[in-house]
Amino acid sequence: MATVTDTDTDRSRKKKKMIDLHCHILQGIDDGAKNIEESVTLIKEEKRQHISSIMFTPHFNFERTSLDKFVQARQHSFEALSSSPEFQELGINAKLGAEVFFSVKLNEYELDPLCFEGTKYILIEFPLTTRPYGLTHTLTDILNRGYIPILAHVERYPYFEDNPVELYNLVMKGCVAQVNAGAIIGKNEPSAMAIKYLKWEIAQLISSDAHSMKKRPPRFAEAISVIRKKLGDDYADWINKNSNDVFNGRYVDVPVVRKPKKILGRWI
Ligand SMILES: [Fe+2]
Repeated sequence: MATVTDTDTDRSRKKKKMIDLHCHILQGIDDGAKNIEESVTLIKEEKRQHISSIMFTPHFNFERTSLDKFVQARQHSFEALSSSPEFQELGINAKLGAEVFFSVKLNEYELDPLCFEGTKYILIEFPLTTRPYGLTHTLTDILNRGYIPILAHVERYPYFEDNPVELYNLVMKGCVAQVNAGAIIGKNEPSAMAIKYLKWEIAQLISSDAHSMKKRPPRFAEAISVIRKKLGDDYADWINKNSNDVFNGRYVDVPVVRKPKKILGRWI
């Protein structure tokens, strides 16, 4: 009788299909892929790294364009890509979403068109240097409206790094937090807090945030292998499961989030 060996388990884990929930692969709509050729190249690279489903999340900022114009442009890009034979050959499962720039006015707008398709998840990014006014109350209002904010690349914000308890409190309220794959690897992206947030389970998702093969290529496989080494296989599997749940509109299973403590000047 065949038995499952460690090597079999390793092999099947490596082959496990993964999901990218944050990328700029949809062409011609933001600072990501410029044309269909570039989109297809990036998707091929994601497939090589065992990604089978992708949420396209182009940048959206209420102060720069209208919601209608954005939705129209995104649909136009998606139709052009999905009708190209090169894309069809890849057999990727794709959905539409957005990466929404934070504004206190978010609650004045309709948010459904910005959510991950078929779900109540909405990916939100914040200013990189200064903590925005109204952060907590705006996110609380969004939660109260029945949406689930996914906080994009949380390792980037110095105000969370200075006070990770604030991020902890937002996750306790019901937000979900995402870390960039590149930050886990520690090359060209702020990485000091990325592993800590995952270890504390304050962050539950990793994504590529891929823009191009040069600017920020997909580095999912490398990131997962770093997580397996530093935090263990169960951890990496938990992260994959979370992405799958979000993609399919299910609640993310957040077990016991560790509240960060400051000891001798260091957050542990
Ligand atoms: Fe992004």
